[in-house]
Amino acid sequence: MMPLLAKENNQQKANDSTKFSFLFNQEEENVINYKKGVISATKRIFKFLKRRKKPFSGIQHEKMRTVFEQININKQPLDEQFVMDELESIYLDHAVAFHLPKYIAHLNCPVVIPSLIGEQILSAVNSSLDTYDQSAGGTFIEQKLIDWTGKQIGFETPDGVFTSGGTQSNLMAVLLMRDAFYHKRQQHDVTMKGVSQAKGRLKVFCSECSHFSIKKSAALLGLGEEAVVSIPVSDQFVMDTEALESAILNEYINGNCPIGVVATAGTTDYGSIDPLNKIATIAQRYQIWFHVDAAVGGGLLLSNKHQYLLAGIEKSDSVTVDYHKTYFQTVSCSGFVVKDPNALNLISHHADYLNPKDHKDAGVPNQVDKSLQTTKRFDALKLWMTFRLMGTEQLGSYYDQTLELTKKAATIIQNHHQFELLNPPALHSLVFRFKPENMNDNQLNSLNILLRKKLFADGEAVVAGTKFKGNYYLKFTILNPIMTEENFEEILSILSRIGHQIVEEEKNIA
Ligand SMILES: Cc1ncc(COP(=O)(O)O)c(C=O)c1O
Repeated sequence: MMPLLAKENNQQKANDSTKFSFLFNQEEENVINYKKGVISATKRIFKFLKRRKKPFSGIQHEKMRTVFEQININKQPLDEQFVMDELESIYLDHAVAFHLPKYIAHLNCPVVIPSLIGEQILSAVNSSLDTYDQSAGGTFIEQKLIDWTGKQIGFETPDGVFTSGGTQSNLMAVLLMRDAFYHKRQQHDVTMKGVSQAKGRLKVFCSECSHFSIKKSAALLGLGEEAVVSIPVSDQFVMDTEALESAILNEYINGNCPIGVVATAGTTDYGSIDPLNKIATIAQRYQIWFHVDAAVGGGLLLSNKHQYLLAGIEKSDSVTVDYHKTYFQTVSCSGFVVKDPNALNLISHHADYLNPKDHKDAGVPNQVDKSLQTTKRFDALKLWMTFRLMGTEQLGSYYDQTLELTKKAATIIQNHHQFELLNPPALHSLVFRFKPENMNDNQLNSLNILLRKKLFADGEAVVAGTKFKGNYYLKFTILNPIMTEENFEEILSILSRIGHQIVEEEKNIA
């Protein structure tokens, strides 16, 4: 009986091990499965890289939707080859390829290989960057990179956290400016009692070109979007600081409470940088929080050549930097950095099971005290691998190259008589439109909207679109350092070809 029982037990073990062979662990079979999976995935990635010539297949959402309607989520496992083939047809073949030079649309950068290596390690080890007891060295890596960012900004004793993106970083900024105001100026415990506007409505100031996440943050934090006062910009798309000061005074006169100003260092559409020094002086004068949204312009911190463009940023209270925009990192990878580490105490919450107060008193490091998230990805590892393997200088030179390219692209657009360039090349974005002769704004709007739509359906190049004073424009966001002048010429000639076709078609219809 014994041997038979032993055999049964072994059989049971074999079944269990097969059943659990999907788990990522040290078992030989599981390690083999993992390796096979990585190799198979890598092959598909190579196919995506090599086969792709156009940044987009041109597939339209209606067609994509019908494909997905036919897919049922399965109860039983599917064959690996089938799953990978399916993935190729429903995703990889159509994924918008940010690494190709003719992708020149949104704020998506091509990524560097060290970031991908970091991504692989961080997702496999799966540390959560909330407490030291879940991450150990990971916590120190994140803190070291926040410290680097803060020191580049010019803060003496910076602190902060990695976040999911500029939107979350900006939310943290508006949260801190709200809470600091209540704490210092009204002795009101907003954390316990919630928002009170009995002594006047809270007001936040930013330029009309600032990112929508500021308004969204004000809404989320109970201030309402109307709390955000939009300050006009100059013809260089930077905040008019005289208008800022009058707006602040105006709110005081109306019995409201200015709590902070957000300067944008690199606006989403124009790349323009608000006058940081002047804004710092005004924020100082009225004793209000000064946040710099450098989600876009944060790459300048890497650049020996261009860092001067951020002069004044060191006078801010907090800064947003998106590493997944200008540090060539995979999504997500962003930082929120403050000048005074104590400011972050305003949002700390001590939970007995996770981060009790006595841990802090004993000097145990953690990131959850400063974060909106609890479980948190170890995104810092990607930037760490990048800095260690490439060095900050080389990474900065990639970014510098995009700035040079943007200047060249601006000249090329200006030299084309059919295109009108709206903004001077501040960082890496150019707003322009196709403008054949004898067309009014309404006609140009319809033409440029259709032009972008047709280009997207063709997929040969992908450009973005935006509006300025009600008129529709096209946009280049130039974040790929291997682009060439020929690429810009080519994209403009595609735009011009499609544009003329539309004009001809319209004529025929008329
Ligand atoms: C100036 C600025 N701030 C914040 C954001 C939001 O960043 P994210 O998309 O990483 O949330 C953006 C995004 O484009 C931006 O341009």
